[in-house]
Amino acid sequence: MSTQELRVAVLGAGVMGTDHARRVTRRISGARVSVVNDYVTDKAEQLAAEVPGARVIGDPLDAIEADDVDAVLLATPGPAHHKQLLACVEQRKPVLCEKPMTTDAHTALEIVRAEAALGAALIQVGFQRRFDPEYGELKALLDSGELGQPLLMHCVHRNFAPPPGFSSAMVVNESLVHEVDVTRFLLDEEIAAVRILRPRATSRAPQGLQDPQIAILETTGGRHVDVEVFVGTGVGYQVRTEVVGETGSASIGLGVGVVRTSGSGRWGGRVASGFLERFATAYDTEVQRWVDAVRSEVNVGGPNAWDGYAAAAVCAAAVRSLETGERVPVVLAQRVDG
Ligand SMILES: NC(=O)c1ccc[n+]([C@@H]2O[C@H](COP(=O)([O-])OP(=O)(O)OC[C@H]3O[C@@H](n4cnc5c(N)ncnc54)[C@H](O)[C@@H]3O)[C@@H](O)[C@H]2O)c1
Repeated sequence: MSTQELRVAVLGAGVMGTDHARRVTRRISGARVSVVNDYVTDKAEQLAAEVPGARVIGDPLDAIEADDVDAVLLATPGPAHHKQLLACVEQRKPVLCEKPMTTDAHTALEIVRAEAALGAALIQVGFQRRFDPEYGELKALLDSGELGQPLLMHCVHRNFAPPPGFSSAMVVNESLVHEVDVTRFLLDEEIAAVRILRPRATSRAPQGLQDPQIAILETTGGRHVDVEVFVGTGVGYQVRTEVVGETGSASIGLGVGVVRTSGSGRWGGRVASGFLERFATAYDTEVQRWVDAVRSEVNVGGPNAWDGYAAAAVCAAAVRSLETGERVPVVLAQRVDG
C-alpha cells in the first residue's frame, strides 16, 4: 500500500458529502480531503472550513482534474453523476460515487463501457449496505446453506418524510435502488422483471407522489422479492429484510437498539432517526475499504460500475411499470467488465 495519504475531492457539500468529508477527516485512516466542491460556493466554503488543509474549487470538473486530487468522492445528486463520472474515468481517477450511479440505464451503460475501455476498475458505487454488519451476516448465512435454497425475500424501506420535490420516479431511483442492489448482492442473481403496485397513497403525500409503493422483483432464478417503499411514514427510518429459504428464514433490521419481548406480549426497540445513524458503521467501512483499495491498487470487490448499471436498468423498468401498472421485463446488455 502507498505510504502517501490519498488526497480526496468531495463533490457535493450536502448531507452525504458533509458526512463523508467528516468521516475521511476524523474517522478513517489513509486519506484526507484536499478539495471541496459544490455548485453553491457558500456550502463548499462552509464544509472546507471544518476540514484542515482543504481548498474550494468552484467548478466540479476542475476539482476532478486538480493535481492535488488522487480520488473523488461523488456526493452530488444522481442527475449530476453521469458527466462527473465520465470526467473521473477520463482523468483515470478512482471514484466512490453515491447511489444511484446514474438515473437511467442508457447513461449507466455508457459509464460501464467507458471504464471497460480503459481496462481499469475505477468506480465503486455507494451501495453501503454491502458493508453493513447485519447484511454481511445475512449474506454469510445464505452462503453457508443453513437456510437452504432462498425462495422469497420481504423488504421494507421506510423514511420519516420525503425531501422537497421528491417524485414517484425518485422513490424508485433513490430508495428502491438500494433494495435492487441488496437483492442482487444477497441472492447472487440478476433481476429479470419488475412490477410496481400502487396502493392507496398516504394523506401525508404531496400532490402526485405515489407513496407507498410495492415492488415485486423476479430474479433470473425465479425467486420473488417484495419491497414496501414508504418514504413518508412520519415515524423514522426503518430498513428490514427477511429471506425465506427452503429450510429456514432470517430477518435483519429489527435489531436497531435492543429488541426485546415483554411480559405484556409486546416487543420493540428504538427506531433510528435516519440513514446516517442506521448505517454509520456501514458508511465508515465502505469508505475505509475504498481508501485502502485505491491506495493498494487492489480491487476489494465493492459494488462496481456493472452493479450500478444493473440497478439502473431495473429502476428504469420499475419506472415504466409505475406508469403502466404492468410487469416489465429487464433486459441487460452483454457484460463488458469481465
Ligand atoms: N448511500 C446512502 O444511504 C445515501 C443516502 C442519502 C443520499 N444518498 C445519495 O447521495 C447523493 C447526494 O445526496 P444528499 O442527500 O447529500 O443531497 P443534498 O441535496 O443534501 O446535497 C447535494 C449537494 O450537491 C450540490 N450540487 C448539486 N448539483 C451539483 C453539481 N452539478 N455539481 C456540484 N455540486 C452540486 C448541491 O448544492 C448540494 O449541496 C445522491 O446521489 C443521493 O442519492 C445516498
